[in-house]
Amino acid sequence: MDEFELIQEAKKAREKTYSPYSKFGVGAAILTKDGRIYHGTNIENASYGLCMCAERNALYGLYCDGLSQDDILMMAVVADTEGPVSPCGACRQVLSELFPSQAPIILANLEGDIKRTTVKELLPFAFEMEDL
Ligand code: THU
Repeated sequence: MDEFELIQEAKKAREKTYSPYSKFGVGAAILTKDGRIYHGTNIENASYGLCMCAERNALYGLYCDGLSQDDILMMAVVADTEGPVSPCGACRQVLSELFPSQAPIILANLEGDIKRTTVKELLPFAFEMEDL
């Protein structure tokens, strides 16, 4: 599977968004080394602080299945944004601990704009386990 097919998977995930408050749907898809795909979309709540992003839903699902960052090849994230979607700060922090630092993260929008990045680039000088 290439990055364009993974973006398609992220778009499919986005269709399942539950975002009645922001009306801003996000989709994420993580490809594993053995070819599995973990999908995530954002799920909101009337108690706004409980909203969960697409990226974290996908990543936590992978860990719930007993996998870890060693199993991950890449991730795609998509939203209806002007340019490629920008992951929020909370997701960057979680990714910095649970996602391989050099693995491709493909950020996209519905128009086909793409930005290829990594966790290291998204969150330099991250607060980590070693800092405790
Ligand atoms: N959201 C994501 O799912 N991922 C991001 O990277 C940015 C924000 C969601 C959270 C909330 O449901 C909506 O988008 C608006 O912030």
